[in-house]
Amino acid sequence: MGPPLAQLTAPGLRTMLGENTGARPAYAWLSESIRTLVSNGRVLHGTRLPSERELVHALGLSRTTVSRAYAELRERGFAEARRGSGTQIRIPGGSVGGGAEPLVPGGTDAVAGVLDLTCAAPLAPVGLAGYFERALDELPGYINGMGYYPNGLPVLREAIAEDYRRRGLPTVPEQVIVTAGALAGIAITSRALLGPGARVAVETPTYPNSVASLRQHGSRIIPVSQVTEGSDLPGIEKVLGSRQVAAMLALPDFHNPTGTLLDAPGRERWAAALRRNSVQGIVDETNAELWLDADPELAPMAAWNRDIVTVSSASKTYWGGLRLGWIRAPHRVATALARAKSTLDLGAPVLEQLVLAAMLRARPGLDQSTRTGMREGRDLLLAGLAARLPDWEVRRPAGGLSLWANLPLPASTALSREAEARGLRLAPGSAFAVESHGLEHWVRIPYALQGPDLERALPLLESAWAAAAAGEPARGRPRA
Ligand SMILES: Cc1ncc(COP(=O)(O)O)c(C=O)c1O
Repeated sequence: MGPPLAQLTAPGLRTMLGENTGARPAYAWLSESIRTLVSNGRVLHGTRLPSERELVHALGLSRTTVSRAYAELRERGFAEARRGSGTQIRIPGGSVGGGAEPLVPGGTDAVAGVLDLTCAAPLAPVGLAGYFERALDELPGYINGMGYYPNGLPVLREAIAEDYRRRGLPTVPEQVIVTAGALAGIAITSRALLGPGARVAVETPTYPNSVASLRQHGSRIIPVSQVTEGSDLPGIEKVLGSRQVAAMLALPDFHNPTGTLLDAPGRERWAAALRRNSVQGIVDETNAELWLDADPELAPMAAWNRDIVTVSSASKTYWGGLRLGWIRAPHRVATALARAKSTLDLGAPVLEQLVLAAMLRARPGLDQSTRTGMREGRDLLLAGLAARLPDWEVRRPAGGLSLWANLPLPASTALSREAEARGLRLAPGSAFAVESHGLEHWVRIPYALQGPDLERALPLLESAWAAAAAGEPARGRPRA
């Protein structure tokens, strides 16, 4: 294990621990509560715990109790004594840098009868075939040329720029680079702007493929935990101010997997912290249009900080099968990004670009019937979970594609194993942890499936959880 990531102070730990109900010996309560904070992603691998003496003082416990709790954490593999660095948190079997294995959608190759909840994406909207037919009508206008448009078809770049203007961010087509998706946008941005060893702050949990892509390009990931409400702005400010961070990747718009939305004051504060510390902001706004209850009418993050590089996608708002996304770049870096892209590919298919341009022009944003279906799916899943698994804590997200459920036991991997055995594929919480094996207290459940599939998933989840929980000793849930 490397140098400590962060120091947890004794008062800081005290506020995270909650009350000891007295049901167990104090050392067992303390050790277990810290382990749960680790499984919940609130305390990260590599964090230095307060010294025993400081904790004795802050909690009013005896030295023997605290020593015994720390010894138990070490015995169970959750902590390690480091000469000169006190006691550091470990995730058993994990390390910073070992997590965030890419999730590979398997829906279309799925074995018949297996329900795949590992991919969170809506189905194709009604009327998609009509857009392809109209694009075919436009195709003759292009077939006399060579078909290479390295930065994207001009009509699509203009349609994307126009969409940003509609959402409150002045943009010209020269600032838009069409990509093969948001993930490709992250890879291109890494290549163009982040040198080897660049420190990149990333919230955990997050969409794992982007983290894998950043690491592949040599970035060093600095994780920042999310809190129940979403982004931990004081935590972000601390990391940006103190850790020589070159860039920060954020998902302020219906975050994947937590579904949280950063409000206007939060955007202002994050944008200011980037500016103050000369940190390059990278915003993945793949889910920005996926509001379900009311349009938040928030301008894109780059309207708060014009230096931000934005990556986005057609996959969730229009259709994943188009395999298109884009980067919206400040003028300053547009050429570097275009150059980096030309080392990866020389452009996207013309027909699909014509389809997306027509969709953007005709009805920018999520199709109304897709939105209604997703809202119904979310509410069906929430009601079903409340009835069948009442001890799961699930917030009602105002947008995005999934529920992020807090389990009463750290058994997410066991849950997904049991679910798989019952014909239901699930991504455990640890799949979204920047560190391997973290977030065992969480599971993501997408609701963008058809109602009957969600109805079918619910009893499978219930029975898989009964089996997973049976393998875990009962324990309480500290404050998340
Ligand atoms: C936040 C986020 N970014 C990027 C992607 C990948 O998008 P694309 O299919 O456009 O590469 C996803 C897909 O799940 C996502 O949720």
